[in-house]
Amino acid sequence: MKTVLLCGSPKKRLSASAFLLKLAALFIGGEKTFVAIPAVPSRYDPILDELKGADNLLFAMPLYVDGVPGHVLAFLEALEAFAKEEDLHPRVWVVVNNGFIEGRQNAPFMAIMENFSAACSFSFMGGLGIGGGVMLNVIRILLAAQFFLMLILIFAGYLAEGRWIVKEPAENFLLNLLINGALASAALLELISLARHIRRQKDFGTKYTRILLPAFVFIVVADVFFFIASLLQGGLFRGWLAKKKPTDAYLKRRMD
Ligand SMILES: Cc1cc2nc3c(=O)[nH]c(=O)nc-3n(C[C@H](O)[C@H](O)[C@H](O)COP(=O)(O)O)c2cc1C
Repeated sequence: MKTVLLCGSPKKRLSASAFLLKLAALFIGGEKTFVAIPAVPSRYDPILDELKGADNLLFAMPLYVDGVPGHVLAFLEALEAFAKEEDLHPRVWVVVNNGFIEGRQNAPFMAIMENFSAACSFSFMGGLGIGGGVMLNVIRILLAAQFFLMLILIFAGYLAEGRWIVKEPAENFLLNLLINGALASAALLELISLARHIRRQKDFGTKYTRILLPAFVFIVVADVFFFIASLLQGGLFRGWLAKKKPTDAYLKRRMD
């Protein structure tokens, strides 16, 4: 059984979709191939060739403007033509994540992928829509920082006391891991369940959840995150108070 995992996020690093794909892959048996959907058609050929022997396709991508990212749409068009030419009929599962809190915002996206599958005579086997995908990155960054902090504390303890004091820093890190894991658990458990459905080639249906349950946790964490992100990106509220660069309209007035 061959599964091709297709990432539709254009991000080179810290892509929630790529992370979700890699995690899902741990629970899918058989042969697995990862591909990033290219932004330019000239790079489609090796990827389309890879799909020839695939029994299962797992797409993971972000929600863009309540739909499929533009470069993925172009790829899907090419895939439809290729699949008809080569008489391909894989099963299709989808994982989509979005920035806003509600996973259900991905429902129109899911309908697009279902229609695409029908147009190609692929079997649509369901998908998972995850709200608050950005917070997945926040959790990953926080955990990486806490891991390094743990190493620093262990090393500093050795320098100060001349012996390795591991228990307390390791316990603190494990506690953070547990808390963050619990907050993201709804989405992660659904993802594992979806991967197991792929393994058994069973219909998953369509499900929606989000990172950071319950809602009041999401709102507090997201507010803190965007406050800090705003400050780093040039001032409060995403740069409202920052010095503005001249806009096109301003430059035009100057030229007139
Ligand atoms: C151009 C663009 C459009 C977006 N449109 C939406 C949207 O309509 N609704 C939403 O909830 N998030 C939207 N987002 C946020 C992304 O879905 C979100 O950041 C996602 O976690 C990115 O996933 P990735 O890391 O896999 O690329 C948009 C982001 C971009 C860059």
